[in-house]
Amino acid sequence: MLCIDQVDIAGKKVLFRVDFNVPIEDGVITDDNRIRAALPTIRYALDQGASVILCAHLGKPKGKVVPELSLGPVARRTGELLGKGVALVPGRIGDQAVKMAADLVPGQVIMLDNLRFNPEETGKTPEERGDFGKLLASLADVYVNDAFGVAHRENASVVDVPKYAKVCCAGFLLKREYEYLGEALQSPKRPYVCVSGGAKVSTKLGILRNLLGKVDDIIIGGAMANTFLLAQGYNVGQSLVEPDLVDAAAEIMAKAKSMGSVLHLPVDFLYAKTPKAKQAEGVCTAKTIPPDALVLDIGPETITNFVSVIELAKTVVWNGPMGLFETTAFAKGSLAVCEAIAGLKNGLTIVGGGDTDAVVHLLGLADKFSFISTGGGSFLEFLEGKELPAFKALKECMK
Ligand code: 3PG
Repeated sequence: MLCIDQVDIAGKKVLFRVDFNVPIEDGVITDDNRIRAALPTIRYALDQGASVILCAHLGKPKGKVVPELSLGPVARRTGELLGKGVALVPGRIGDQAVKMAADLVPGQVIMLDNLRFNPEETGKTPEERGDFGKLLASLADVYVNDAFGVAHRENASVVDVPKYAKVCCAGFLLKREYEYLGEALQSPKRPYVCVSGGAKVSTKLGILRNLLGKVDDIIIGGAMANTFLLAQGYNVGQSLVEPDLVDAAAEIMAKAKSMGSVLHLPVDFLYAKTPKAKQAEGVCTAKTIPPDALVLDIGPETITNFVSVIELAKTVVWNGPMGLFETTAFAKGSLAVCEAIAGLKNGLTIVGGGDTDAVVHLLGLADKFSFISTGGGSFLEFLEGKELPAFKALKECMK
């Protein structure tokens, strides 16, 4: 896979697929980390004398032009961060985009409006995607994919453009994601610890299965731990569980043992009668979860156990909070885990997934981690050991 610094882009038009799928409330971007993460590649291209065409998606407009999902605010913010105007090509991609791309001169930047306004972008088959990838590729001399967040999607801008682009390569962000996550999977320093949390086992099953036997320790917290408790025969009261995954949880516990990965589950919890509670009603153990309550965070003994495992680690991959961290009273577990990982001096520490990222930023500890992935679903699928469509497409276009 070529990287942008191995390609001649001087004086060329460069089409960038970026992931600028950022949260916007009332027209205001509330977290611009994904835009900032792509800036080094864009700045590099401009410094080399290229002109830049940015393309991205926002939300799921399902092939319709939805004004609330226009990239207008994103183009403005990108312009502010770059210190230059970024003109938006409004609506669906067609003649206006072709003209504006043709008129670009070195140093200029334009942004195509939401790719998903075009139904072909998310077509499930090559037929449904039609010639959209070809049209996008025709706008530029070089295609750069710097959109890790969407690397797991078979979208036209991800998998079809490389088939038609004259030259295609990865941007610095995509390359960094590939290298950091790849290093954790292929040649981790040990002990290697996977910390997994969040609401659902269903979204993490693939990762857990792939990492069994590869990691030394798997720490499981958050509501997903409840399904494991259920599989051990505990009564979890009103806690969030996925009863249809009890067998899968039991299988993971049995395999962990035989494959040499130690599974660490919570032994105590903070509980309340409702997820809207502002305070915990008390601390319980796995055996004493009140039948009318639900567990909302890991308890003090669990925090001590988890932190002592993390403190010995040389590689940590973390996805998913340990509890309902949005409520201060139930954030202690996530914050303790975050601080323990951030405190590792010589380890490789990787965080991924929107909520986990939010915990890290809440504590202002982002710069204490080796790498914060911009991926959500793509991060999970990468760790499941799958070859993501974006990487496959870039490798195939080299042939
Ligand atoms: C994300 O936010 O995880 C990416 O931008 C992908 O978005 P999608 O799940 O709507 O494809």
